[in-house]
Amino acid sequence: MEIDIPKTMKAIRFHTYGDPEVLQFEDIPLPSAQAGEVLVRVHAAGVNPGDWQMRSGLAHRKFQIDVPLPYIPGYDVSGIVEAVGPGVTTFQRGDAVYGMTTHGAAYAEYTTADPSHLAFKPVSIDHIQAAGVPMSTFTAWHTLFVRTRVVAGQTVLVNGAAGGVGHFAVQLAKAQGARVIGVASGRNEAFLRELGVDLFIDYTTTPVEQVAHDVDLVIDTVGGENGNRLLSVLKRGGTLIPTTWGHYSTKHAASASLTVEDVVLLLPTTAQLAEISKLIDTGRVRVEVSMVQPLAEAYKAHELSESGHARGKIVLRVVEERSPHYVVRTSL
Ligand SMILES: NC(=O)c1ccc[n+]([C@@H]2O[C@H](COP(=O)([O-])OP(=O)(O)OC[C@H]3O[C@@H](n4cnc5c(N)ncnc54)[C@H](OP(=O)(O)O)[C@@H]3O)[C@@H](O)[C@H]2O)c1
Repeated sequence: MEIDIPKTMKAIRFHTYGDPEVLQFEDIPLPSAQAGEVLVRVHAAGVNPGDWQMRSGLAHRKFQIDVPLPYIPGYDVSGIVEAVGPGVTTFQRGDAVYGMTTHGAAYAEYTTADPSHLAFKPVSIDHIQAAGVPMSTFTAWHTLFVRTRVVAGQTVLVNGAAGGVGHFAVQLAKAQGARVIGVASGRNEAFLRELGVDLFIDYTTTPVEQVAHDVDLVIDTVGGENGNRLLSVLKRGGTLIPTTWGHYSTKHAASASLTVEDVVLLLPTTAQLAEISKLIDTGRVRVEVSMVQPLAEAYKAHELSESGHARGKIVLRVVEERSPHYVVRTSL
């Protein structure tokens, strides 16, 4: 059957680093699926802090990460496979998929992706919610179950518990039977208690180190200069894993036999995303989407993300969902 794919599409691009206003809504040529790739009709794109860190030039200044300009931001995607390139056998046209792209370019009507970083979209959630999942959930999941192995009865402190990574980390640690301490501002207390935190600390009124102690694992999604106060809540032999840059004194860590792991950015595999789909479809993890913006207004999403105070996830709506036209396949 002849596939009717348009030649041009709408996409968000920036031509220069700068404020959210550098994000332009443009007509550009459609990409095509090369060997080993799929072309995805993007229904929703997830927004992550890395997107504005790239756009603002922070990633360039701080970590020498350069992107080819003009650049389409966004790594998290949920949509429908529109075409498959030569050699792709795992997915077929019409599959509802979610996952991450390797090269950004998710803020667009179509994008290409390596199918080894995609999986079938969880069936219990829509594309908007699914687009909020991949990078944040995978980061939380990898931290709790690959870099460490949290077991029931351990205490996990999540700093930045109400954010994208944090709210997934809270739920995953609870589902594993851990005792969870969530750190956020007071306006997020009810939200985090609903997600199951055993102890809530409002960092705007209470220093974390005054209340928390004997913690097995700290997941620090906030970072910054004051890392040592988080080291002091760990029990001997405990571990701190940052998801972003932070200062943690190695001398302090060594004196108390603590481990501080490096920040690592990895892409989820199909199998890992399928595990995460199961956690979502069995109701053990839910996605909080606090803001949805149309693709054209991506700048508003960046303004909120850059404020550092988004609750859960921010998502760009690319296709208005009325009647889904796809068939759901759930296993390869
Ligand atoms: N290495 C990786 O693979 C990887 C992957 C994903 C993300 N990251 C990085 O990890 C960091 C977190 O990502 P994210 O998506 O979770 O960010 P996010 O969603 O933007 O986090 C926002 C949350 O941070 C909380 N927060 C802000 N200041 C805080 C403070 N001083 N103490 C405690 N909580 C505070 C806010 O809560 P309040 O509003 O209550 O203050 C808000 O809910 C980012 O720097 C991101 O780039 C790294």
